[in-house]
This record gives sequence, structure tokens and C-alpha cells, in this order.
Amino acid sequence: MIRHIIALIAAALTVWAILYMARLDMEVHRLQMIQEIIAKSKQEVKLQPKAAQTPAPKPSKPAVSEESEAQKKLKVLKEKAGRLSAIKVSPLYRRTCSSCHGINGEGTQIAPALVGKSKEYILKALHDFKTGKRKNYVMYGLLQRLDEKQLEELATEISEFAQKLKAAQ
Ligand code: HEC
Repeated sequence: MIRHIIALIAAALTVWAILYMARLDMEVHRLQMIQEIIAKSKQEVKLQPKAAQTPAPKPSKPAVSEESEAQKKLKVLKEKAGRLSAIKVSPLYRRTCSSCHGINGEGTQIAPALVGKSKEYILKALHDFKTGKRKNYVMYGLLQRLDEKQLEELATEISEFAQKLKAAQ
């Protein structure tokens, strides 16, 4: 009986995780669009001083504060986008792991950070979760769908996050 209840809870968690991941995918896509807009707006901002010289000096004053207001907003958006995905990750990691462990392995309230952990440590943890030696229903259920090659790829990729994040700063 208790086993059934636990299996049910695990199934519900999995469904929730899948929905959450789909939403995160959309979020990342949206942020990429925002980043593109930011990149475009940067070019436009550079052009503005030239245009501002032609009109009378009086109306240009409020225009400047408006511009800095927009720049502030852009900065905030850029920071948010940067924080959410500073480095590119594989579709496998993004789809399967990022919702709980963070888009760059930085961890969330749900699951611990993975960034900075060695490949050996991660691979051992994945093996232990998959075999049930280390007990965690979420990780256990998730890993049943992944084969050895994918575990190895994930362990390699995650172990390189720290270095990549450093390089991206
Ligand atoms: C639904 C949430 C969830 C998802 C999705 C998820 N994990 Fe986890 N993961 C956890 C939780 C919770 C723990 C902590 C379990 C524990 O320590 O007992 C954990 C622990 C780990 C650990 C051990 C960390 C440590 O410090 O020992 C590794 C490695 C790991 N996960 C890798 C992955 C990988 C790789 C994926 C994608 C295939 C993934 N996880 C997907 C929730 C999740």
C-alpha cells in the first residue's frame, strides 16, 4: 500500500517536472528573444547622440533621462537573461535536469547545485541513484529512462560547467 502511494507521488512529481521543464523551455526561448532585442537596441542607442544634436537643446533634456531609464530596464533584463543561462547546455541536460538543478547547474530550492562537482563524483551519484543504492525517488525514476552513454555524457557536461561559467564572465 505504502509503495503504491510512493509510486503515485513519484509519478505526480514526474508529471510536474515535465510541465515545469516545458515552461522553462519557453522562458529560455523568450529570454533569447529579449537578448536579441537588447543587442539590436544597443546599436540604436549608439546612433542616438547624433540625432539628438539636431533638435533644440531644451527638449533633449527629458529625452536623456528617458534614455537612461530605458537603459536601466535593459540592464536589468540583460542581467536576468544572463543569470538564467550564462552558458549553453545540451538539450538533454536542459530538458531532463535543469528544472531542478538550475539551467547552468547552479541549484534551486528543489535540488542541490551540481556546478563544480567532478565527473567521477557525478557519474557515481547517477549510478547510485539509478541502482537505488542512494535512495531518492525522483532521481531514481528519472534515471531509469537514461542509458549509460547518456549518464556519461551528462556527467562530462556538468563537470565542465564551472570552467565554462568562469570563461563566460
Ligand atoms: C525533479 C527534480 C530533479 C530532476 C529533474 C533532476 N534531479 Fe538530480 N537531484 C534532485 C534532488 C532532490 C537531489 C538530492 C537527492 C539527495 O541528495 O538525496 C538530486 C541529486 C542529484 C545529484 C547528487 C548531487 C550531490 O551533491 O550529491 C546529481 C549528480 C544529480 N542530481 C544529477 C542530476 C541529473 C544529471 C539530472 C538530469 C538527468 C537530474 N539530476 C535531474 C532532483 C532532481
